[in-house]
Amino acid sequence: MSHGLFISFEGIDGVGKSTQADLMENYLASKGLKVVRTLEPGGTELGQEIRHLLLHRKGEVSARSEALLYAADRAHHVASKILPALEKCQVVITDRYLDSSVAYQGAGRELDLTEVRNLSLWAVNNLLPDLTVLLDLDAELAAKRRGQTGEAPDRLEREKIEFFEAARNSYLDLAKAEPRRIFVVDANQAPEKIWEAIVVRLDQVLESKGL
Ligand code: TYD
Repeated sequence: MSHGLFISFEGIDGVGKSTQADLMENYLASKGLKVVRTLEPGGTELGQEIRHLLLHRKGEVSARSEALLYAADRAHHVASKILPALEKCQVVITDRYLDSSVAYQGAGRELDLTEVRNLSLWAVNNLLPDLTVLLDLDAELAAKRRGQTGEAPDRLEREKIEFFEAARNSYLDLAKAEPRRIFVVDANQAPEKIWEAIVVRLDQVLESKGL
């Protein structure tokens, strides 16, 4: 068993996960906690190669192959980076974790949700976050925000709006099923307001962990 704190950020592309993860990282560091900030896919060297295959390689990737590549990235991420940090009582903040696979590969690609979840649970030996922050935003609004970054969309971001709507709804279903772990925040507010909501929940989790 590990004694650190494991936090994931989730939501469809364009909801502002990294801004909130930055705020959380600074907040926890200001409390003197050692924070490891990471992401999926691509939180490790091997993961960076898998990330490239998933997002930037030309040509089709079948749905099951995509699900397995995300799970492979996650397995190595947990084994080589997340668990070692938790064992040292550190805080891990990851931009995306296994709920992304359920929402995108399960609901988005129309694979069986339970099978996709079980695949990831096997990959990570059942390690779930202590807290998952789900930033919830309408798919059209999120697409608009993505468009404003000026960055070229990757293979996943080129999907149709229906794909992101399915992923969003799936995330909300996951939150309903696991209300203790998954904290939903309305991402259609100013970043400071979003952070105000998150920090209340975070403080509760810190207290329950004695941190
Ligand atoms: P992300 O790093 O969040 O994208 P960006 O760098 O553009 O902010 O994630 C890359 C994409 O991978 C994103 O569209 C979501 C998708 N994804 C899945 O489909 N399944 C998964 O399990 C994960 C972790 C990500």
